[in-house]
Amino acid sequence: MKLNNVVATYTTVRGQVTAVDGIDLEIPNGIILGVAGESGCGKTTLLKVLYGDIGYPLTLKTGGIQYGFPDETGEEVTSATIRKHWFKRISYIPQSSMSSLNPVIRIRNQFVDFLEPGTSKAEVLEVVRNYVQKLDLPPEAIDAYPHELSGGMRQRIMVALATFFQPELILADEPTTALDVVVQKGILLLLMNLQEQMKNTIVFVSHDMGVHYQITHKMLIMYAAKAVEFGDSERIFQKPLHPYTKMLVESLPSVGDAHIRQGVAGRPPSLWEDLRGCRFAPRCPLATELCQTTEPALIEYEPGHFAACHYADIGL
Ligand SMILES: Nc1ncnc2c1ncn2[C@@H]1O[C@H](COP(=O)(O)OP(=O)(O)OP(=O)(O)O)[C@@H](O)[C@H]1O
Ligand SMILES: [Mg+2]
Repeated sequence: MKLNNVVATYTTVRGQVTAVDGIDLEIPNGIILGVAGESGCGKTTLLKVLYGDIGYPLTLKTGGIQYGFPDETGEEVTSATIRKHWFKRISYIPQSSMSSLNPVIRIRNQFVDFLEPGTSKAEVLEVVRNYVQKLDLPPEAIDAYPHELSGGMRQRIMVALATFFQPELILADEPTTALDVVVQKGILLLLMNLQEQMKNTIVFVSHDMGVHYQITHKMLIMYAAKAVEFGDSERIFQKPLHPYTKMLVESLPSVGDAHIRQGVAGRPPSLWEDLRGCRFAPRCPLATELCQTTEPALIEYEPGHFAACHYADIGL
């Protein structure tokens, strides 16, 4: 999948705010890509753009995406055509998915929306019943209303809906954040196993670096609407190049830790400010005058490992 200089803005009463600012990346298909960064850095907006869920107030200002898989005519799927492939080739588990199942519709009818003309409802329900069982849900779960299920079961249903057609690309926005640790682990294992089997691409958003460490192959770190680091997860956790990534990684507790780890001190800038130079500079221990005035480009410092920092090569 190729993101070509993606710029996305929201129109508000105060004017336009750029929530994804020039993301230009090539992400291999068939992997789990983790997206991390503090609240408001643009993770959800990036997923909306990837899903092609663009409409007022969100605008794709420039750029676009080549998905790296063909449509039925053999043409590559792009931002212009992605909506035609919703559910079947690309699916989305939204951030508030605990509440995004329609409360007055039984689970089975949320699946039946996908009915192909010519198939009978009974046939489809049989397939759905078998499928949810594979995901460790009781087959009766599909006869329930969403509120009759526990949070963990609802989230498994969301995963079932998102994977039912074995889409090439699954976008998952904080799919486990509201769940307790044990249930969370179950859902993560489920997603990982499904990805192993289907060999599709999952873009997985989470604040939780521990979760990223467990399940992702590559990571994209965002800061104030920008991509600041991208590379193999193993490398990112072992040798982060951007000082912001370093702080995120260091905030992870390790086994046997006696003291509480520091988070990242300070806050990201408001996207409304005049954002000159490096956006992380005000919080960065390495910042110099250069950082205040000149924005660092995202540069490949080692094969497949990119960072946007004037001093990224210090630790290499
Ligand atoms: N509907 C909207 N209208 C105007 N601005 C918006 C809208 N949605 C998001 N934004 C702004 O865009 C920026 C990015 O928001 P986004 O929701 O993508 O962040 P996020 O990284 O997903 O945050 P979180 O971790 O809290 O979910 C934020 O500054 C936010 O205030
Ligand atoms: Mg979000």
